[in-house]
This record gives sequence, C-alpha cells and structure tokens, in this order.
Amino acid sequence: MDYRITSMSAEETREWGKQLGRHLRKGDVVALIGDLGAGKTSLAQGIGEGLGVTGPMPSPTFTLIQEYGGQNQGAKVRLVHMDLYRLQHPQEVEVIGVEEFFAEDTVCLIEWPEIAEDYLPENRLVVEILGSGEQPRKIVFHTYDETWDVRIKDIIHFRERLGGPQ
Ligand SMILES: Nc1ncnc2c1ncn2[C@@H]1O[C@H](COP(=O)(O)OP(=O)(O)OP(=O)(O)O)[C@@H](O)[C@H]1O
Ligand SMILES: [Mg+2]
Repeated sequence: MDYRITSMSAEETREWGKQLGRHLRKGDVVALIGDLGAGKTSLAQGIGEGLGVTGPMPSPTFTLIQEYGGQNQGAKVRLVHMDLYRLQHPQEVEVIGVEEFFAEDTVCLIEWPEIAEDYLPENRLVVEILGSGEQPRKIVFHTYDETWDVRIKDIIHFRERLGGPQ
C-alpha cells in the first residue's frame, strides 16, 4: 500500500520521523528515497528522536554508517543510519557489510538505498520524499506487509488527531 502525507516544513518532517521512530522495532529496515536535499536526513533525525537517541545525528554522507544507542519501550535498540550515496558499485555494498546491519537487534535506516536494492529485506518500509528547496514535501510510505500497514495507519491517525496539516 501507499500512504501519502504532506510536510510543510523541516520541523514537520522531523515530527513525522519522530512518530515513525516510536513505532519501529528491532529488525526493521527503512529505505529513505528522495533527491539531494529532499529531507531524508531530517526524517532520520526525527526517527532517532522517537527512538530516544540523545545527542546529534549528523548526516552519514562521509562516514557512510553511523551507529546510535536507542530504546523502545525500555528495551535497548541499536540504530544504524547509513548513506550509500557515495558507493559506485553494488559490490561495495558487500565490502562495507551493509547486510550485517539487517540484524535482529538493529533498526536500520538507509539513505540512497538504490545501489543495495538486491540486498534489502523484502519486508522493508520504503519512505519516498518528493520535493526539495523550500517547497512542501510529499512523503509516501510504501508498505509491503500488514505489520507496516497497521503502524503507518496508526501514525497518520495520531497526527490527524493532533490537527496537523495532512
Ligand atoms: N518540508 C520539508 N521537509 C524536509 N526538509 C525541508 C522541508 N522544507 C525545507 N527543508 C530543508 O531541506 C533540507 C533537507 O536536507 P536533508 O539533509 O534532510 O536532505 P537529504 O534528503 O538527507 O539530502 P542528501 O541526499 O544530501 O543526504 C534542509 O535544509 C531542510 O531545512
Ligand atoms: Mg541526507
């Protein structure tokens, strides 16, 4: 299923991320798709906040992979934030060990996931952000199984109850 929402500002994108983060569990993989400056890192930072990460979450553009300690309902969660923009060949996905982060104790967020397409688990959540600059963003949650449908509907209903713009 596809679920579409609108975000009018970086803060709102971050807030959507925060709500999403609160619904993430160990083993989840979230692919973040969108052009340069679309808001993938902004959303990821919100996800980190929702998972209780304290301290800054800089863009992993140069480090490729950043790891954080988070928690969900009191249980520790490892949060991994990747940016594969700088990879040139699919073999490099294996070299940096991307698959090792699709692990039971980890929530894995991947910016520029296209090069790793063949390695991504089937039940990933794909979040596509459309728009750039100061334009509002369309954010599309592409789900491939029911556990994600339940969670995304919950997040959207929660935001509707707050009366935020949709
Ligand atoms: N509605 C919005 N949602 C997200 N970001 C927005 C929005 N409106 C404006 N912005 C701005 O767009 C920029 C998004 O930058 P961000 O680093 O999150 O993008 P990115 O998709 O991670 O880019 P890159 O591909 O370079 O990693 C920020 O400067 C942010 O303030
Ligand atoms: Mg980024």
